[in-house]
Amino acid sequence: MTAAAPAALTTEQIGFLARAVSRAPSVHNSQPWQLRVRGTEVDLTVGHGVELRRQDPFGRDRLLSCGAALTDLELAVRALGRDCHVEYRDEEDVVATVTIGRPRPASTRDFALYHAITRRRSHRRAFFHSRVPEGVRTAVAAAGEATGVHVVEPGRLGKLAELLGFATRVLRDDRGYQRELELWTAHTHGWNAVGDGVPEDAPDEVVLAGRLAAENLLVVCTDTDTRPDHLAAGAALQRIWLTATAKALVGSVITQPLHLTGFRARLASELALPGVPQAIFRYGYPAVPAAPSPRLPLGELVPDGPAGGRR
Ligand SMILES: Cc1cc2nc3c(=O)[nH]c(=O)nc-3n(C[C@H](O)[C@H](O)[C@H](O)COP(=O)(O)O)c2cc1C
Repeated sequence: MTAAAPAALTTEQIGFLARAVSRAPSVHNSQPWQLRVRGTEVDLTVGHGVELRRQDPFGRDRLLSCGAALTDLELAVRALGRDCHVEYRDEEDVVATVTIGRPRPASTRDFALYHAITRRRSHRRAFFHSRVPEGVRTAVAAAGEATGVHVVEPGRLGKLAELLGFATRVLRDDRGYQRELELWTAHTHGWNAVGDGVPEDAPDEVVLAGRLAAENLLVVCTDTDTRPDHLAAGAALQRIWLTATAKALVGSVITQPLHLTGFRARLASELALPGVPQAIFRYGYPAVPAAPSPRLPLGELVPDGPAGGRR
């Protein structure tokens, strides 16, 4: 007797997955992803019309964002009580396909990370002055380790602050970059109403650089610098962030300076990093709460779904 094929997703289950994906972090809160559901297969695609020429000329942060969304998608499938297989697809718009398998109870760890999805948010302010215990720091960093991805606590913080300070001055003088940031800033165009854009309370890099010495930092690096590497780095970043959230920690990510020409090579050599730096994650215990940022309507995330509509 052959076992029955895994059941296709119901409309409610698709909504459950879409909600988890929508809460993932993304560059300038651009939410560049969409889901295409085919029975038991879910394609994660890069949505069109999302281009950040200055912040992200090669679409690296866009893929990192999709990687974060992929982690949320996988955790949500597991929280539904279904097994799944994740396949990276290096195609024009499809970046990964998640194949939903048979019923299987989620592990305690996957449940904890799934429940952290809605509690995670960017916390760009200073942290509470209390050292994160070494065992917790080790667990947070280990959550991001994957094939071809390395997560390290950088040494030489003075050098890092110096490099970030330099990057800030360059970015401040870059009118095109500032214009793009302005366009993606929520209040400027009242885009809060449609759930797009970043809150305006983000401090500049000089402020951040001054705080580095008192913070817990991780750099997500990859062996090489391909599109699948960017996806894997984003997936790892989100696992780190959710693990930190599950442990009552808060954090934020910095990638802006990494887009300056030559910056990543310099960072890698000055800090003796084990690969190509893709993102810096700063974290600690919260001193003040951070508000959640808005999201686009779920119908835009599943364009072919029941309530869908294309961007
Ligand atoms: C790939 C990537 C790059 C990001 N780069 C920065 C950054 O350089 N500076 C920053 O303050 N936030 C950065 N963010 C955080 C986003 O602005 C944030 O995730 C988004 O506004 C949604 O808010 P939330 O994280 O509170 O849900 C980045 C996020 C991602 C996924």
